[in-house]
Amino acid sequence: MTLSVHWRMPSLSMLALSLLLAGGPALARDVAPGTTRPAAAQLVSAHQRPGHAAIASANFLATDAGLEVLAKGGNAFDAAVAVAATLSVVEPESSGLGGGFMAVLHRAKDGHDVFIDAREVAPAAVDSKAYVNPDGSPDRDAALNGPLSAGIPGEPAGLVLIARRYGRLPLKQSLAPAIRIARDGFRPDARLRADIADQRKELQRWPASAAKYLPNGAPPAEGAIWRDPQQARTLELLAAHGDDGFYRGDTAKKLVAAVRAAGGNWSMADLAGYRAKERTPISIDYRGYRIVTAPPPSSGGVAIAEILNILSGFDLGKLDQAHRVHLIVEAMRRAFRDHNDYLGDPDFVKMPLDMLLSPYYADGLRQSILADKATPSSMLPAAAAGEPGMHTTHFSIIDADGNMAAVTSTVNYIMGSNFVAGDTGVLLNDEMDDFALVPGKPNVYGLLGSAANAPKPGKRMLSSMSPTIVIGASRTAVIGSPGGSTIITQVLEGILHFIDGQSAQQIVAHKRFHHQYMPDVIDVEPGTFGPATTAELAGMVYTLKQRDPWGFMNVVTWDRRTNRLDAASDPRHPSGLGKVQ
Ligand code: DON
Repeated sequence: MTLSVHWRMPSLSMLALSLLLAGGPALARDVAPGTTRPAAAQLVSAHQRPGHAAIASANFLATDAGLEVLAKGGNAFDAAVAVAATLSVVEPESSGLGGGFMAVLHRAKDGHDVFIDAREVAPAAVDSKAYVNPDGSPDRDAALNGPLSAGIPGEPAGLVLIARRYGRLPLKQSLAPAIRIARDGFRPDARLRADIADQRKELQRWPASAAKYLPNGAPPAEGAIWRDPQQARTLELLAAHGDDGFYRGDTAKKLVAAVRAAGGNWSMADLAGYRAKERTPISIDYRGYRIVTAPPPSSGGVAIAEILNILSGFDLGKLDQAHRVHLIVEAMRRAFRDHNDYLGDPDFVKMPLDMLLSPYYADGLRQSILADKATPSSMLPAAAAGEPGMHTTHFSIIDADGNMAAVTSTVNYIMGSNFVAGDTGVLLNDEMDDFALVPGKPNVYGLLGSAANAPKPGKRMLSSMSPTIVIGASRTAVIGSPGGSTIITQVLEGILHFIDGQSAQQIVAHKRFHHQYMPDVIDVEPGTFGPATTAELAGMVYTLKQRDPWGFMNVVTWDRRTNRLDAASDPRHPSGLGKVQ
């Protein structure tokens, strides 16, 4: 489980940046260079436990499913299986069995931190030409809709792995609430009904999708009970047979037949060969806290670590809002630039992680930040950003023993590929768009990729998902968010707010901003900055652009001084629920 790393010379563009900026006014520093890493956080003692539990997720049925499994003797990891499986049923627009997830788990008894990589992979027959129109332009429909857009799902294997290696209960028991809700039915919330209505035209293209989501030719009506017996059956097979219940046998045959009949290229071998993986999380120290977060194939943890390493050279608390935002945005800009250039699936690509995560590398980047002035990204290759809807989901759990699970799960864009595979009830993801499918062309989140993220048989597409656990001597947080490329910056801001002493409720409600290097704008949630800060940022030559929506964060915190747990679900999404039990 070691990360493969190697050094690469900084690219020409970075050298150009350094040269251009050489001699520019260096920003006054509050912390001397080379002393940017604070002392390591004191880790959770195996003897301290909260004695009660907290879960925050994007849907109250899923939060309750997790609490039900805890009440039956399960731990945070069994609860994570229950919450994820229930979200597959009640929030299918965001995540599900047909998608994948990434999770950071912390086991209290021995302090073991692990990253669970249940990311989708490209099928063996992947062919980049399938995503290019005859005139050479990107075929966005192939990348985002229908079976060609779908990677081999990782979520079922990830749930089995968590239950077997980390859970206390049989998988059957952890999946029981999801199966019951799928069979007995539930009332879809306003967001699911609206998302089905939005995607109606796409869903109508495939009979199984229309049959499931447009029962009488229309989305489920408000207040009506809606059942999902086909997915209940698929979940039962998974519960009974583990991996074999999904990746081999009946379900696998049906998935492959449906995909191929609709023009896709999956094979039985693709499914049988899928493995969820345990990896070593990225772990860095920042202001006395240990941040445990997602390694590749997520770019999120690398970017968050790089940003925090840059910021650790400044005392943000002493600055006014405009200067604080200036420094954070410049750190974001530099980290996203590396995201585009270097990162991909660690099983396929050698990445300069030693360099990217090094405090000395951060020292260099910090030097290039100008006082009172934005650094133009324009000297580097440009991309256009999309406005993603918030369709991915994150939940956070801490149990009575102090086990923690941060889980971000996705089918990618709204309703994934819009393609339900036959009568399995499984809505497939459209995660293939997270590869750099067409060189030099951005994906739906405006992210440009390089060869490091080119599609290859069996390769995982790069993700921004950033489930994170922040462990301090007296306070701990489990944190994450949906939001495509904005996941990284939203989680970063959540970490900074937590370390500044904010509560779970304050963190999820906080107004947000985002910069991803290209396009060279700060996306701003309405109400984030007052007129004075806005004017000051404009004076530093920043372009501000209003953006909505923002990701639905779900955060739990544990204050070990008072043994108080808090669970907060994002007020931007009324169906979410944070609950302490
Ligand atoms: O893995 C990723 O980075 C994306 N598939 C996540 C998509 C997402 O967050 C959608 N919500 N806006």
